[in-house]
Amino acid sequence: MTERPRLVQHYARFLPVTAATPALSLGEGFTPLVQLRRLGASLGLGNLYAKVEGTNPTGSFKDRGMVLAVSRALETGATAVICASTGNTSASAAAYAAAAGIECVVVLPRGQIATGKLVQTLIAGARVVAVDANFDQALTVVRALAEQDDHPVAIVNSVNPDRLEGQKTAAFEICDDLGRAPDILALPVGNAGNITAYWAGFGEYEAAGRVRGRPRMWGFQAAGAAPIVTGRPVERPDTIATAIRIGNPASWSRAVAARDESGGRIQAVTDEEILSAYRDLARMEGVFCEPSSAAGVAGIRNAAVAGELDPDAVIVCVLTGHGLKDPATAERSAPGLLEAEATVGSVSVALGW
Ligand code: F0G
Repeated sequence: MTERPRLVQHYARFLPVTAATPALSLGEGFTPLVQLRRLGASLGLGNLYAKVEGTNPTGSFKDRGMVLAVSRALETGATAVICASTGNTSASAAAYAAAAGIECVVVLPRGQIATGKLVQTLIAGARVVAVDANFDQALTVVRALAEQDDHPVAIVNSVNPDRLEGQKTAAFEICDDLGRAPDILALPVGNAGNITAYWAGFGEYEAAGRVRGRPRMWGFQAAGAAPIVTGRPVERPDTIATAIRIGNPASWSRAVAARDESGGRIQAVTDEEILSAYRDLARMEGVFCEPSSAAGVAGIRNAAVAGELDPDAVIVCVLTGHGLKDPATAERSAPGLLEAEATVGSVSVALGW
């Protein structure tokens, strides 16, 4: 069999791996950079792109960091991994743990996980504990459990540095595809690991002489869960964008550093703005992401409407997860079925032809 390049090997010189690190892979990374021609034109932007992370093996960007975190957990002799999650981290952890043949334990907020993510996690054999709490409280419990000495378990939330190391690879790919660094990178911010990882990735690529310059980092939080924007933790975060329903991000200060060092911004977008961008990505570009993922596009649209963007700027929006993760929101947001009898006449009438 001819082997395609594996993400971790391809970028090994930038990652904490050695010959002793187990070579685990489900085919993560190398995701498409799609030019958003129609959406860009509607906003007067000539160079608007989407980094479509939903094409990763479990349908989100989490696989980039999880492949490394689970490989390194194996290397250090862990027999189990544990995480708190709004759904994507758990789906990814469950899949890589299954492939590695180790146990996966998940603690998640009951009733707040999109269906696709929950079934992905369960089918892969993870043991899932639902708690009547939010993500932040679940993560506090998980951190304490991981520190107990009697269980050789590795925490695989983004507080694990290997997660962020792996997630840097998305920044490398964007630079490789564009042949340069973008002017602006726009992305949703939840626990703030991804914005931290991208900023590190762009910095390392520049330092290695692969590109000149780094993008401004533009992060967007949902208005009902925007602690970094308001400057204080949100006790009861609330948004339809369940993936980023987080009130006290673990990488808060590093997200602020990425914003400030890059001359960027972290702003709020409303649920309506998120859903509108989510629908337009599907209808105008054929790109179906999950609602949270559209937060970056929503933020770019606000900036374009406010006249804050150079029409020629190279802008990349990270679409962090696949639309099929959350079928319920898709169904509520999409047009309904037309009804007809099975005759040419009846179908024509239904179509208004
Ligand atoms: N987009 C999606 C689809 C996510 O699942 C997440 C985080 C984010 C954006 C935000 O990324 O936390 O690095 O700022 N999901 C985590 C989880 C919290 O448990 O799956 P971040």
